[in-house]
Amino acid sequence: MADKVNELISKCLEAKDMAYCPYSNFPVGAALLTTDGAIFKGCNVENVSFGLTVCAERTAIQSAVAEGHKNFTAIAVTCNATDRFVWPCGACRQVLMEFGPELTIYSTKPDGSYKKSRMSELLPYAFTQSHLTKN
Ligand code: THU
Repeated sequence: MADKVNELISKCLEAKDMAYCPYSNFPVGAALLTTDGAIFKGCNVENVSFGLTVCAERTAIQSAVAEGHKNFTAIAVTCNATDRFVWPCGACRQVLMEFGPELTIYSTKPDGSYKKSRMSELLPYAFTQSHLTKN
């Protein structure tokens, strides 16, 4: 497991190099681990129509789902900030919750150091599928 975490950390750093972010100049990389051990990378992909930007975390989810994976155990996320740990935005938290209420999130600095959290900490009182059922 420690090896997989190291791999996940290094893949999110790799993914950051692929970011397309000419407007923010804020590259973000993500690496998503499936329950069967596969890793999918994602980076932010911006657009001149700013609202169409897709974050790195959602790119990784979309790539994995498009390849038939829907069960995930962890995601590592990184940006260029060296003085703080940066966590997924609100929109990404909701999308991550859809596929991984038990997900571990590794916020990773460029030197590979990280802090861990869980979806229940990042998105308490989440709106989930169970809320769609009538009472
Ligand atoms: N961004 C991500 O990729 N993930 C996040 O969780 C937060 C923000 C991207 C979106 C945009 O391209 C840039 O970072 C600045 O907001």
